[in-house]
Amino acid sequence: MTAATAPSMPVRPLPRLSGQPLLGPLVSFRNDRVGLLLRLAKTHPDIVETSMGIVRRMVLISSPSLANEVLSTRQGSFVKAPGLAIFLRPVLGDGLLTSEHAVHERQRRLLAPAFAHKRIASYATTMAERTERFAAALSEGESLDVAEAMMRLTFEIVGKTLFDTEVVGDADAVGGALTTAMEVAMGQLGSVLPLPPMIPSPQNLRYKRAVARLDDVVYRIIRERRAEGADRGDVLSMLLHARDEEGASMTDRQVRDEAMTLALAGHETTANALAWTFYLLARHPEVRARMESEIDALGHAPTYDDLKKLPYTLAVFKEAMRLYPPAYILGRRPIEDTSIGEYRVRRNSIVLVSVMGIHRRPDVWSDPERFDPERFLGEREKQLPRCAYMPFGAGPRICIGNHFALMEGHVVLATIARRVRFDLASAAPVELDPLVTLRPKGGMHMRARVREHAGGARA
Ligand code: HEM
Repeated sequence: MTAATAPSMPVRPLPRLSGQPLLGPLVSFRNDRVGLLLRLAKTHPDIVETSMGIVRRMVLISSPSLANEVLSTRQGSFVKAPGLAIFLRPVLGDGLLTSEHAVHERQRRLLAPAFAHKRIASYATTMAERTERFAAALSEGESLDVAEAMMRLTFEIVGKTLFDTEVVGDADAVGGALTTAMEVAMGQLGSVLPLPPMIPSPQNLRYKRAVARLDDVVYRIIRERRAEGADRGDVLSMLLHARDEEGASMTDRQVRDEAMTLALAGHETTANALAWTFYLLARHPEVRARMESEIDALGHAPTYDDLKKLPYTLAVFKEAMRLYPPAYILGRRPIEDTSIGEYRVRRNSIVLVSVMGIHRRPDVWSDPERFDPERFLGEREKQLPRCAYMPFGAGPRICIGNHFALMEGHVVLATIARRVRFDLASAAPVELDPLVTLRPKGGMHMRARVREHAGGARA
């Protein structure tokens, strides 16, 4: 027990979900993961223990204050859950998202300057330029999968801003490989008998091939940069030129793990958040009209300095991430017998913080299912209880890219909405596909409507 964080001895056993003794709610977890999370948040609004497949003790938290304990105040008693650590390891290796303790601390310190406020501001121009190019190429009535388009755009942005590299030609290989990796990883997590990646099942072999394709792209970029030798002042240069206390540089494998982590964590989530934002805007024309008039009032394409004049646009993006948080659950494993609130939690349980459940709690959010960006205007966000809104997590493992992502969402949304409007191709609601992140099932099929307006977006 970490003395600094040990509370007085917890007294209460965890409430347990009864029924389905053998498999627990595994069937629901496989078929309707989000529905299960939302149902449990209603029946057990704070914490509940259940078992699932071979995981005997799974603890689900839907309370902001208990989430704050796990992620922040008592985080020393927890590491990341093995699901992510084992099943995503072939892709992410020992990069920032999956590493622990000293390795994590060192790498987080090393990468921090790339995410400092001033540096991020300098990325805004690239974000705006790339988005403008995408939006300007859309024609009236064009059908497109907005989820896929956002994936390409955010990948292009992360490639250019963090790695000073053009990755457009690699987007297909990366997109396909990433989807395969997440499907296999999530399929294994929801399986009765998960097969770790080293077992050569057909699924795992497909996974291995997908990772090999990703590796080809990343190692090629590393090779080119090592050969060039110059310090371009981007993240890749930081990684290639970093030296530890003994003066040793990072191996190709270490550079690959960090680069892969940033490339993947840095585009997938933002793309999903944007796809859901366009979905919600299409279903709420009054919100869309208000956002467009804020953007039109600028009279020109938005730049970094204009962002402060677009508070409603940012509120739209934040509210979309409340209803559809890309990282909808966060997993941890206690490394010792410990407590959460007044409940005893056993070492090696799987603790899942339900971001989705917390974001729709009726005691925190009035009329929680309603899409209402006003919730994020003025001082209202500051008045929320700690961890009531946490699309980026909390505590020392909070998303390193959170300011990057918020700015990117803000810029992309404003730049696109000035030129085009996306309408849904079908009236049927889009289903959720909760892989590691919350994706729209089968994509987000929409039709582009080019806007003509006084702001003069179009000639
Ligand atoms: C809307 C977009 C994004 C969302 C919703 C998001 C969400 C998150 C969340 C919830 C975590 C914490 C995971 C945990 O505690 O288990 C995280 C970590 C991380 N994110 Fe993001 N993220 C986004 C964008 C980005 C971007 C743009 C980057 C990089 C350019 C990035 C890089 C990372 C990294 C490296 C970590 C691991 C940090 C650590 O453990 O120290 N993310 N992200």
